[in-house]
Amino acid sequence: MTLQQDSATEGDAIREIESDGAPTRFARGWHCLGLSDTYRDGKPHSIEAFGTKLVVFADSTGDLKILDAYCRHMGGDLSQGEIKGDTVACPFHDWRWAGNGKCTDIPYARRVPPVAKTRAWTTLDKNGQLFVWNDPEGNPPPAEVTIPDIEGFGSDEWSDWTWNAVLIEGSNCREIIDNVVDMAHFFYIHYNMPRSFKNVFEGHIASQVMSFTPRTDVVLDIDFGVDNVSRSDASYFGPSYMIDQLWTDTPDGTIETVLINCHYPVTPTSFVLQYGVMVKRLPGMERAQAEEMAQGFGAGTEATFEQDIAIWKNKASIDNPLLCEEDGPVYQLRRWYQQFYVDVADITPDMVNRYEFEIDTARSATRWEQEMAENIAAREQAGSA
Ligand code: FES
Ligand SMILES: [Fe+2]
Repeated sequence: MTLQQDSATEGDAIREIESDGAPTRFARGWHCLGLSDTYRDGKPHSIEAFGTKLVVFADSTGDLKILDAYCRHMGGDLSQGEIKGDTVACPFHDWRWAGNGKCTDIPYARRVPPVAKTRAWTTLDKNGQLFVWNDPEGNPPPAEVTIPDIEGFGSDEWSDWTWNAVLIEGSNCREIIDNVVDMAHFFYIHYNMPRSFKNVFEGHIASQVMSFTPRTDVVLDIDFGVDNVSRSDASYFGPSYMIDQLWTDTPDGTIETVLINCHYPVTPTSFVLQYGVMVKRLPGMERAQAEEMAQGFGAGTEATFEQDIAIWKNKASIDNPLLCEEDGPVYQLRRWYQQFYVDVADITPDMVNRYEFEIDTARSATRWEQEMAENIAAREQAGSA
C-alpha cells in the first residue's frame, strides 16, 4: 500500500460504536434515599435498589434502619408489615426484626432460632437526608468517604429542601456521570452558555467548577434577568451524590442555592434520579419568599433534568466516545468512576490521583454568541414580516 492510499483509508474509516453493555455490579458508596423525615411517619417503607428490595423504618427513637425487605422466615415482604416498638414486624407470621438485623421475637414461638439474622444496611442521616452504604465486598464505609455537612442546612437563613424523585428506565446510572465534564451540552440541552469550565478529580471526589450565562435567544419560564452570571461549584462525593453550590447574580443581590443531584440504582438498567434544592434568603426576604424561590428553583431544576432525561432515554451506551478538544476529560472521568466498581484492592492510581483540566471556552463562546445573535435577528425578522 502506498502512503497516499494509507491516508485515504484512514480518512474514510468509519468509527464504530463500542459498548460492553451496562455493568451488572452496583457501585460501592453512599447512596441517598431522600429526605429523612419522609421515613418517620410510623410506617415501614419499601425501596427497590441494588437489584433487591429494602425496608426502611424508624425505631422508637426516630433512628432510621434499613434491612433486606424479604423476611428470612418464608420470604414475606417486611415493607408491607408494621413497626412494633424498635422492630419491623413481618405481615406474614409477625416475626419481629430489629434494626441490627436480629430477629428479637416470634410471638407464637418458645424461642427465636439463634441464626435468625437478616442483612442490616449501614445508614447515615446527614443534612436531613438518609443515606445507605452499598459495598459488594461487604466492608463498612471508610470514615474519609463520608458525606460532608452542608453549611446552612437547618438554619433560619435557608429554606427547607424541596425534593423530587423520578425512575429512569432503560438506562444505567453511569450515563448521568458524563455530565460532570460535558461542557457543550449545557448550551444545547440546558440553554446556558458556559463562560469558564474546569474539572478536578481526586480520591472519591469529582468536581466541576463553571460560570455561565443564560442563552439570550431562548425564552425561559424562569428568568432572573438577561445578563446575569451564575457560578456553580459541583462535586460528586462518591459514585452517586452531588452537591452543587450555585451563585446567581440578580439586581436584588446574589442568590445562593444548594442543589442536590443524586441517584441510586434499581437494576443494571434502571435507577431513581433525585434532586432537591434549598435557597438562602436575601437580606430582608421573608421566609415564605425563600420557600417560594426554592420551589421555583426546584421547578427549574426539574425542567433541566427532563432535558437530560430525554437524551438518556434515547441515547446509546458508548464505551469509545469520539471527542474534540472542548469536550472535557470524558475518559479520565470514567476512570475515576471505575474505582467504585472494582474491589478496593484493585483500585489503581489513575482512578484516584489528582487530575485537573480546564477547557478553553473562548472559541465556543465566540461561536455561540454569533449563533444567538443570528437566532434573535431571524426571530425579529419573522416577527416584523
Ligand atoms: S415470612 Fe416473615 S414471618 Fe413468616
Ligand atoms: Fe445535563
